Amino acid sequence: MIKNSVYNCNVIELPKIHNRAGNITPIHNNIEIPFEIKRVYYLYDVPGGETRGGHAHYELRQLIVAASGSFDVVIEDGKNKKTVTLNRPNFGLLITPGIWRELINFSSGAVLLVLASETYSEMDYIRDYQTFLNYSNGE
Ligand code: TYD
Repeated sequence: MIKNSVYNCNVIELPKIHNRAGNITPIHNNIEIPFEIKRVYYLYDVPGGETRGGHAHYELRQLIVAASGSFDVVIEDGKNKKTVTLNRPNFGLLITPGIWRELINFSSGAVLLVLASETYSEMDYIRDYQTFLNYSNGE
């Protein structure tokens, strides 16, 4: 049994308020995204060629946005795998629970913004790939 599917992890278009002096993207709980934000964090100064991620979560839901630059998010549900390129600040990838993710191909100066449904808890991480596969296959 697949608890979660990569096909439920969609890229959503966020609002963009545009004028000649630039853009604003506002995001509200349960309006543009389907959860309440309990934590915001961002990754930056990722050295060239480095990868991040390499884990899944039991409960956490996230929206990942390329606030600046670009990167690829490789997501896996234990059966299916897909790669999503994020490179526009008004688009975000929703990641449901039980999805393995790797963050790769960071451009120079990329800023990866995460809106998260829970506060940080190491207990919510699955960091071992085999444990993830067992979990996603219902074992
Ligand atoms: P991790 O989520 O493994 O990073 P990534 O998926 O980007 O590779 O987190 C790396 C370290 O940072 C880990 O020791 C936990 C810590 N951390 C926090 O303390 N609070 C947080 O909100 C996050 C996301 C990580």
